Amino acid sequence: MIDRKDVKVKFNKEIDEKIQGTPLKKVSLEPKSKKFYIESYGCAMNFNDSEIVASVLDTMDYGNTQNIEEADLILVNTCSIREKAEETIRKRLKYYDLIKQKNPDVKVGVLGCMAERMKASLLEEEKIVDLVAGPDAYRDLPNLIPAIEGGEKGVNVFLSRVETYDDIMPSRLDQNGISSFISIMRGCDNMCTFCVVPFTRGRERSREPYSILAEAEDLFNKGYRDVTLLGQNVDSYHWVNPETKEEMTFAQLLVLVAGVHPDLRVRFSTSHPKDITDEVLYAIRDHENICKYIHLPLQAGNSRILELMNRTYDQEWYLNKVKRIYDIIPDCAISSDMMTGFCSETEEEHKETLYVMEQAQYSMAYMFAYSERPGTPAQKRLEDDVPEDVKKKRLNEIIRLQNQISYAHNQRDIGKVFKVLIEGDSKRSKDDFKGRTSQNKVVNFPKGKSTLQKGDYVNVRILSGTSASLRGEIV
Ligand code: SAH
Ligand code: SF4
Ligand code: F3S
Repeated sequence: MIDRKDVKVKFNKEIDEKIQGTPLKKVSLEPKSKKFYIESYGCAMNFNDSEIVASVLDTMDYGNTQNIEEADLILVNTCSIREKAEETIRKRLKYYDLIKQKNPDVKVGVLGCMAERMKASLLEEEKIVDLVAGPDAYRDLPNLIPAIEGGEKGVNVFLSRVETYDDIMPSRLDQNGISSFISIMRGCDNMCTFCVVPFTRGRERSREPYSILAEAEDLFNKGYRDVTLLGQNVDSYHWVNPETKEEMTFAQLLVLVAGVHPDLRVRFSTSHPKDITDEVLYAIRDHENICKYIHLPLQAGNSRILELMNRTYDQEWYLNKVKRIYDIIPDCAISSDMMTGFCSETEEEHKETLYVMEQAQYSMAYMFAYSERPGTPAQKRLEDDVPEDVKKKRLNEIIRLQNQISYAHNQRDIGKVFKVLIEGDSKRSKDDFKGRTSQNKVVNFPKGKSTLQKGDYVNVRILSGTSASLRGEIV
């Protein structure tokens, strides 16, 4: 295990300055004379990137506003994962256009995965866009923004092999002040054939561990009690100390972050079934504050389809992994992503997805119909031949089944007592708290006469449950 004091050289100091622009100057100009507004779409990593962007803009003459009408600069951090995600962004651009018509001085910037996928062509297709910046180009914003203020168009879509923004402390944009994210790696090397992420986010790289630790400590000191370590494939986190050549695995990193404080819950996402190790499972079992919850996307239950997807595991391997998790951590909750109607999927093969879902007993799942993405291996080599209505029908079937499984999962919690982290008031009533269990389930319960507040832990007995959440009482 690497010791903190051993790390003197940051892996990331070799940032290619020509590509990345000048390193960020830590100057904060107060008060700011201009305002930026930022909207985020897509995965948690994108939301976290927006906080990095906010931090970069904080070194300039820009303050954050939640009110789009008073913004001098409108930024949208975009997602390309499915066609619908990009359609949503196009609609938002139309709305920004209306704002720009009222105030022609407003500048519009497109960031993130759609910016990376479309590059400069986005400027031609969407005339209102002034700035296009990909996920590895945010350090360059202090150069790009003055240029667009002067009436030019700005584009930087270079992908980096080293950028991890490890020296940038994100400016938190979230509302609850209790749970937050820390990006521990960027990019993805897996090349699942359906997926656009390797093209929009580039090669996989792991962030220097002690900047991760510093960020976790900072969050804890600010009152946060729940951090999620983020990466497209966290189990392949791998960092080598450039001086001592000592290595750090994901399990070691987890334990390091869990050591920040026993009251800081640590989560992680996403785990690739091929990479999650026993070492990680033992770390979860042996540390109370490493949450008993694993997001382990299945995608499809049939082995032929999994091979076409290049997921590099088959049904049997997946189910063995699930069994291993429940053997080592019996009270672990597992969730999943599933995709219906991938190229050439038959009705029988689709039924195998339903079969694996029954076996795995997910606490919850995100479910999608396959959406072909330009430039992906599937788009180039396979035919998107399952009709839309069949994809939809299969999607409805898996949603219906997962609702039943989630409901039964929650019913099994009735009578049990869970340590719950209070996140704030429940949505429905100011008399109730909303909290979360280690297993990532939402629990609503009456405040009663307690003097508890958000950020506190409390033991709650579960009294009832729906497919989406639990209800309980303080014990
Ligand atoms: N890195 C994560 C997933 C990131 S994308 C992992 O490997 O699990 C989140 C989810 O979007 C994926 O798990 C997949 O279920 C879904 N997805 C990705 N590409 C898609 C596509 N082309 N069509 C439909 N769903 C897709
Ligand atoms: Fe996409 Fe696969 Fe990488 Fe996940 S692991 S981001 S699905 S290529
Ligand atoms: Fe979307 Fe990019 Fe995340 S495509 S899901 S925002 S990595």
